[in-house]
Amino acid sequence: MAQYNVFDCSIIELDKHHEDRRGNLTVVENGTTLPFDVKRVYYLYDIPGGEGRGAHAHRDLEQLIVAASGAFTVTLDDGKCKRSFFLNRPYQGLYVKPGLWRDLVDFSSGAVCMVLASEVYDPADYIRDYHEFVEFRQTDEKCL
Ligand code: TYD
Repeated sequence: MAQYNVFDCSIIELDKHHEDRRGNLTVVENGTTLPFDVKRVYYLYDIPGGEGRGAHAHRDLEQLIVAASGAFTVTLDDGKCKRSFFLNRPYQGLYVKPGLWRDLVDFSSGAVCMVLASEVYDPADYIRDYHEFVEFRQTDEKCL
């Protein structure tokens, strides 16, 4: 099994059509755009200044995180390294592999964080305790 770390995650440039005088359009399509098929979409919005989101890891979930509006910073943590990504373009998405801790901070006013996810919601896939996460990284076969 593959071992994923923060360097396996990167910004994906999404298909964009913005030569149109009526405005811009970006497409995400199963089978072509992402390394996974999208089973769920959710978005965070009306986030008060100074608030952070995330603060958890997923055991198996893959995600694409998009600043659909505004800007914010995502910090990924594999238990050894941290890497921060500033997202502020609706035609870019941060591809997040499974097994990584993520913190989302510094939301601009009006920011919308759209997340495309590889699975439907499953509370059992979450690790919300950082010490448990560190233990998971040391014992999960995907991380060894
Ligand atoms: P939470 O995971 O804490 O949000 P964040 O991404 O900031 O960590 O989710 C907040 C609430 O929303 C929590 O009660 C669980 C619920 N929720 C769902 O019911 N379905 C979902 O797909 C998601 C992402 C969250």
